[in-house]
Amino acid sequence: MADSNSKLHFSTRAIHAGVNKDTLFNSCTTPIYTSSTYYWNDLTSNSGYEYTRVANPTRKALEENISSLEGGVGAQAVATGMAAITAVMHLFSSNDHIITGNDIYGGTYRLFADIFTKMGLRFSFVDMSDPEKVKAAICEETKCIWIETPSNPLLNLVDIKVMTDIAKEHNLLTIADNTFLSPYLQRPFELGADVIVHSTTKYLNGHSDVVGGCVVSKTQELADKIAYIVNGLGFGCSPFDAFLVLRGIKTLGPRMEAHQKGAMALARMLDEHPNVEKTYFPGLESHPHHELAKRQQDGFGGMVSFDIKGGRPAAERLFAKVKLFQLAESLGGIESLIEYPETMSHASMTKEARRDAGISESTIRISVGIEHPDDLIADMKQALEG
Ligand SMILES: Cc1ncc(COP(=O)(O)O)c(C=O)c1O
Repeated sequence: MADSNSKLHFSTRAIHAGVNKDTLFNSCTTPIYTSSTYYWNDLTSNSGYEYTRVANPTRKALEENISSLEGGVGAQAVATGMAAITAVMHLFSSNDHIITGNDIYGGTYRLFADIFTKMGLRFSFVDMSDPEKVKAAICEETKCIWIETPSNPLLNLVDIKVMTDIAKEHNLLTIADNTFLSPYLQRPFELGADVIVHSTTKYLNGHSDVVGGCVVSKTQELADKIAYIVNGLGFGCSPFDAFLVLRGIKTLGPRMEAHQKGAMALARMLDEHPNVEKTYFPGLESHPHHELAKRQQDGFGGMVSFDIKGGRPAAERLFAKVKLFQLAESLGGIESLIEYPETMSHASMTKEARRDAGISESTIRISVGIEHPDDLIADMKQALEG
């Protein structure tokens, strides 16, 4: 069946890459191999699998699939998106310096600012929409530029090509968190990135029933280093979760199309609504990075944020009134979710860091599901106007 590196179209690879390895029964889907250990033939040879922490056939299928979709040479599927980020940060040593954005996902901010800082890594959180600020932050110890685009929750874009050019000039690694768009809409390797991380919890799995992560590498050297780290840290993705994510990816393309159709329609309505102060969606012509989004992405994605007029009391009224949008963190599932970054997804940032990033008490984030856009719009309107 399909080789993961073949030049088949994206939607074909989404279904076939890494799958169909079961020669015993020729099963159509990848079996869930639960075995923790594998018998050796003799003292020096085995089937290629020895112990599930090291590698597992179900997980391997998922890794080949994601690697193919991103255009990498290898991937490691891990327990969560944070585990993926933790794994790549182990490429660095005490005193190394990493430059990243000031409006990245709150959990990533906490991991960097609180946990890895205690272990001696150093970080600069800068406004990455301005390349001069990134250049100014580079020092002798800088080893990496960490990109998250579009950012969470304000959907600012970082120009990946500009960042990777700066990184190459200074011999730095570029790591991109591609969770918000998935490889269906953005492929950072084509723009010069070295490593891609995902929370597969989001669009890749797409059904809000798994937490998972993945690290994809552009070179064999990086893939080997990261496989070594993941095995050493011991947080590879479980075979059950790998099976679910692999199943989810098969419909990634059609789901992303539906997500972004709904997001565009909802963003246009919000943008014109008198009770909305500001709408953040890269698909709107008024978005400051609209042209960059058209250039760097294959679509605008399924996330929409907005500032409601009337601050927290108005937000609380809206959350109580929406019926189709469930109040919950996370994103990228088929059902629409709504959340309040101030007390939910970005509560792990300090208040000052939130304000620096432009997140206020009026900011609301929506993960637009694949329900009919007319129903979503009607529900949001009644909540805004009720
Ligand atoms: C952009 C981004 N990266 C990483 C993560 C962490 O993923 P997980 O929750 O699977 O650990 C999230 C979670 O929301 C995220 O939004």
